[in-house]
Amino acid sequence: MSNIKNIAVLTSGGDAPGMNAAIRAVVRAGIYHGINMFGIKRGYDGLVNGDITAMDVKSVANIIQRGGTILKTARSTEFKTVEGRKQAYENIKKLNIDALVVIGGDGTFTGASKFIEEFNIPIIGIPGTIDNDLAGTDFTIGYDTAINTVVDAVDKIRDTAESHDRLFVIEVMGRDSGLIALRSGISTGAEAVLIPELEVDYEAIMKRLDSTRKNKSSRIIIVAEGDEEGGLVVAEKIQKNFPSYDVRVSILGHIQRGGKPSCMDRVLASRLGVAAVEGLLEGRKGEMAGLVCSKITFTPFHKAIKHIDAPDENLTRIVEILSL
Ligand code: F6P
Repeated sequence: MSNIKNIAVLTSGGDAPGMNAAIRAVVRAGIYHGINMFGIKRGYDGLVNGDITAMDVKSVANIIQRGGTILKTARSTEFKTVEGRKQAYENIKKLNIDALVVIGGDGTFTGASKFIEEFNIPIIGIPGTIDNDLAGTDFTIGYDTAINTVVDAVDKIRDTAESHDRLFVIEVMGRDSGLIALRSGISTGAEAVLIPELEVDYEAIMKRLDSTRKNKSSRIIIVAEGDEEGGLVVAEKIQKNFPSYDVRVSILGHIQRGGKPSCMDRVLASRLGVAAVEGLLEGRKGEMAGLVCSKITFTPFHKAIKHIDAPDENLTRIVEILSL
């Protein structure tokens, strides 16, 4: 039997489609289990400033299909300080909040770990980031929607590339991770994908562009924003090597973060929201709820935020094999 009576939920870091579905699941799962539920505004900033309100079944109605986060989000600097976290602890004690669910990425879980270490508050995390760069879950909430947004945009750019016989360098999000770039690259038939985890082999790229010249009139090169050089520099180098190519650059930017969550993201968020609350009631803390091979798992924060060094080798090989 758990002593937890009051749980608060927050979203932190970059917004991701499906965060609302996760908030809804956490709030409703809590109410289902007889818990009083609270929402914290603007991530850890709201915890520090006491921007915390009670939530009921109706406060999460009609949000499962909405992008962004109704709780708003932030990358808090105050919570990184000892004084900030002390203030946050005082605020949750004032409201008798016994436990937290935090939805976000590596920064969110790093903050949560620190808070547990100092104040021993039970916290469970839910992976919410378009980057899919956390260990302990096959997919993070928002990733599926984001890659589908990228695919849609690249397909449109391909129409122009094909009509004008152009080469487009398209920069996608992914500060430390090339997973958005890799999957969207495979599914749009990109000629090359450049990611932060692997050093760029310009010689190989130029060779491939040259040897496949006769087979194609349009070319797409996907570059993850965290790649060592970025889209503009890559485009410049290609243009220098192939002066006859008509090269253009497109940086997709924040369009990738917004929009209606896909069905996959809504289901993932709903499952992880329920799992997070039930995990807390079972006495778990300092762990992230995730889905591995379709099964709910719990991974300690320090393992979840461990950066995945190398992406699946098969994915990089597939790009090469299929770009003939
Ligand atoms: O972590 C998600 C992400 O979208 C990254 O891919 C990107 O580098 C970063 O957030 C951008 O953050 P901001 O919206 O604060 O510029």
